Amino acid sequence: MKNTKHILQIGLLVATFGMSIQAQAFDAEAAKALARQNNCLKCHAVDKEKDGPTYHSVAEKFKGKPNAENRLIEHITSGEKAKFPDGHEEEHKIVKTSPPKDMDQIKNLVQWILSL
Ligand code: HEC
Repeated sequence: MKNTKHILQIGLLVATFGMSIQAQAFDAEAAKALARQNNCLKCHAVDKEKDGPTYHSVAEKFKGKPNAENRLIEHITSGEKAKFPDGHEEEHKIVKTSPPKDMDQIKNLVQWILSL
């Protein structure tokens, strides 16, 4: 039954692909555009230390933490205190989306940061 074997193989291939697509479900370009519009990149870069930690180091810090996504959503939507390198504290920027508080866009941005 050669055909059955092929069908099984294709099925497996589709399942594997489906999973890897799901793991990468965020849209990096949209995330970067939102970060740019919000001036996040004034204080953060992927790899270069600015006033805020690099997104790479944020991803590192939260790697494997089950509540990472919610934690970061909270961070960029609540205006909690952020500590700057010179020691002063101010409220962290709250991300703005259009339409306002669009959770899909905010989640997408956080997933992108966590992937870096
Ligand atoms: C005026 C400078 C500034 C801007 C603008 C800014 N941040 Fe930050 N951000 C900081 C600083 C400083 C910290 C470190 C906070 C701390 O450790 O207390 C930080 C921390 C973070 C963290 C890590 C939080 C954690 O718990 O480790 C993330 C993620 C983050 N910012 C995302 C963003 C996003 C997304 C934007 C744009 C919507 C943004 N930031 C805009 C200064 C800024």
